[in-house]
Amino acid sequence: MTEIKTISDLEALRGEFQNYRNNFKSSLVLCGGTGCRASRSHILIDAVKDELAKQGLEKDVLVRATGCHGFCEQGPIVVVEPGNIFYCHVSPDDAQEIISKTVNNQLSLIR
Ligand code: FES
Repeated sequence: MTEIKTISDLEALRGEFQNYRNNFKSSLVLCGGTGCRASRSHILIDAVKDELAKQGLEKDVLVRATGCHGFCEQGPIVVVEPGNIFYCHVSPDDAQEIISKTVNNQLSLIR
């Protein structure tokens, strides 16, 4: 792990993360906060990664597990970026439909 000692260390690390994220055309932001995790978001995250690989999209779509979005009662939460398309009460069974419809539609607009 990189040790951050100065502001410029932090800015350099931030730049690395931004460069990494720029490799992807779209992102699926999945809440990994306590409330969503209690609603099995960790299983959803695995299902999303599996479905992206199945559809050959793992190099186009970044999966990011984040902290709480503030909608814990509505979890698990998924946000599709760009567009900030918000899904709530998402189950692992929804991964295929979200990726097939929403993500693929966005990617077709970007290409
Ligand atoms: S824990 Fe997911 S929205 Fe709060």
